[in-house]
Amino acid sequence: MTPDFAGHARIMALADLVTPMSVRTAVTLRLADHLDAGDLTADDLAARTGTAPRPLRKLLDHLVHLGLLRAGEGRYGLTDLGRLLRRGDAPMGPFDQLDLDTVLGRTELSAVHLLHKVRTGQSVYHGMYGTDLWSHVDGAQGTPDALKAQLAVPAGFDIDVLLAHPVLARARTVVDVGGNTGALVEALLTRYPELSATLIDLPSFAGAAAQRFAAAGLDGRAAALGQDFFEPLPPGADVYVLSAVLADWDDDAAVRLLRNCALAAGDTGRILVSEVSLTERLRHVDTGMTLWFEAVMHHPDRSPDDIAALAAEAGLKVAAVEQAGTRIVLELHG
Ligand SMILES: C[S@@+](CC[C@H](N)C(=O)[O-])C[C@H]1O[C@@H](n2cnc3c(N)ncnc32)[C@H](O)[C@@H]1O
Repeated sequence: MTPDFAGHARIMALADLVTPMSVRTAVTLRLADHLDAGDLTADDLAARTGTAPRPLRKLLDHLVHLGLLRAGEGRYGLTDLGRLLRRGDAPMGPFDQLDLDTVLGRTELSAVHLLHKVRTGQSVYHGMYGTDLWSHVDGAQGTPDALKAQLAVPAGFDIDVLLAHPVLARARTVVDVGGNTGALVEALLTRYPELSATLIDLPSFAGAAAQRFAAAGLDGRAAALGQDFFEPLPPGADVYVLSAVLADWDDDAAVRLLRNCALAAGDTGRILVSEVSLTERLRHVDTGMTLWFEAVMHHPDRSPDDIAALAAEAGLKVAAVEQAGTRIVLELHG
């Protein structure tokens, strides 16, 4: 049989790891920003970026091959495409996920552990860090600075169906369990002036949330507690929100977390479980992104019935289910 060289070359191109890492290295070194004022030699660029000239030159040549740079008379310059890599001083730009010096950029590298997800069902982060993403990020160097940049980020996808939920409109106190850096709490307290909130998250996220609340003048009405949400939660609030949290956990852990909320909510509190599933929107148009969500979360697309079954196991009843766009909200009570 004659070897199919063209076919083999196509497969190797599909499997290439060098090009994705070249783009990330270029972004991390901010090469486009250095070249923005004019063309430079490899030695100039090495001096400006504090890098080793020989490997840098090979990187630059590959970036020329990719159409991001052009070369002439010993100098390198930006192409129109390469100009798009300029990052400027934006606090949180589109390339943060490519910057290998950031927590976000490093977590993106977990894609190389896709096999771990497919073999074990655990998120790729377990393959890379031996733990879940959040515990890793919470303890990682650079996290507090990375989270500062995130404080400008508003609450997530199709959030209105959660913000406008009748249970929240009636509430005086809410606990946002796994509230991250506080975007949802800020949006809720802005919308409902009588409401006060406690956010629960791992210490570095809670610390960033506290900064957000202080900057927004909400610190009198919003507290941020750094604790494990599997430990006892502050009891007696009107509403406990779990937004985009359960997707990270297997069924056993999700039931434990729901039971923990049920214990704190007692007979009178309500629990709102809100999950975001992008799968329906993306399944046919972007299989890569759909796979990515599957890789990084434990279960990115539980249906309302799936969540109701977990709630029943935790001794909770479903009072109402709402769905809008990519978001579902289940109202639960004991
Ligand atoms: C996907 S984020 C959801 C953030 C937010 N609720 C939202 O709607 O965008 C999951 C959050 O759960 C937090 N988390 C994960 N494990 C935790 C734990 N054991 N204890 C407390 N928070 C935890 C993470 O730090 C993260 O902020």
